[in-house]
Amino acid sequence: SGDRKVTIVEVGPRDGLQNEKGIVSTADKLNLIRLLADAGLSRIEVTAFVSPKWVLQMADHDAVMRQAPQGEHLVRSVLVPNEKGAEAAIAAGAEELAVFTSASESFASKNINCTIAESIQRFIPVMRIAKAHGLRVRGYVSCALDCPYEGAIAPGAVTAVSCGLRDLGCYEIAVADTIGRGSPDRVGMMLQHVLEQIPASMLACHFHDTSKQALENVDVALERKIATFDSSAGGLGGCPYAPGAAGNVATGAIVSHLHKRGYSTGIDPVGLRIAEDFALSLRHDC
Ligand code: HMG
Ligand code: MG
Repeated sequence: SGDRKVTIVEVGPRDGLQNEKGIVSTADKLNLIRLLADAGLSRIEVTAFVSPKWVLQMADHDAVMRQAPQGEHLVRSVLVPNEKGAEAAIAAGAEELAVFTSASESFASKNINCTIAESIQRFIPVMRIAKAHGLRVRGYVSCALDCPYEGAIAPGAVTAVSCGLRDLGCYEIAVADTIGRGSPDRVGMMLQHVLEQIPASMLACHFHDTSKQALENVDVALERKIATFDSSAGGLGGCPYAPGAAGNVATGAIVSHLHKRGYSTGIDPVGLRIAEDFALSLRHDC
């Protein structure tokens, strides 16, 4: 196949900023989103409509969504845990939703305060509302390799949850290395298992990069025809409920890796550099 096109899903404004110790201002978040859109990112997860009691960093989700720059070729998506989040996100102008659960029961409990099965139940009204508004829904599977509380997760658990999300109507399943310690071997085995049920065209990979193997893991996924990858500007990110997790693979790093290997992304490296420098300037060190 001569198709060398890869889609990058920029999660920096959400995954990147949710884990910052300081609270980034709404104006700075909007600036970051604008710079990313200007660099040619076509899918940006702009915020999360989650409980501010759980993630204070995303408490301004309504203002961010309402003011986020629009673009003809830009899809502005948001993370939602439940019906309440879905309704508010759509009212504020979200163009795509992303629901999130886990292949690990412990992580589901810590992150969303319910079981995996309960999370799937909660997504039923989310799917209904999205469909009524003509929005597509992505589904995340956290802990696709390891759980911060349980350790290694069996590939079968990842496949089972992925199938659950597909059966609900998610158009894309993002398998996530939440703590970023997956090796290429284990990523390959996990993907092989999931691919027995879900086609590569429906899969995305969301690699955190604690062990600095994310780009090798991207290559493993590319070999299996997966062509959608999440990344965050400047490599910011992590999950407040996943202790020890580093940021997502950096957008600049994955884009230059892909371009070097002859893949096209539609992203302008010069514009991206500006967005990444700005993202890094938002980090608070104290
Ligand atoms: P809960 O406490 O079990 O639920 O939280 P609740 O229904 O009792 O609600 C508690 C309060 O939150 C109530 O307010 C609700 O109204 C409010 P109160 O009555 O006490 O004033 N609430 C909401 N507020 C705003 N938006 C909402 C919403 N829902 C309820 N949508 C809940 C359950 C799921 C809400 C909570 O656990 C939560 O928000 N968790 C989100 C945690 C999170 O955002 N984690 C980071 C993102 S996931 C991630 O990073 C992984 C990922 O990147 C992939 C990977 O790397 O693995 C995606
Ligand atoms: Mg993440």
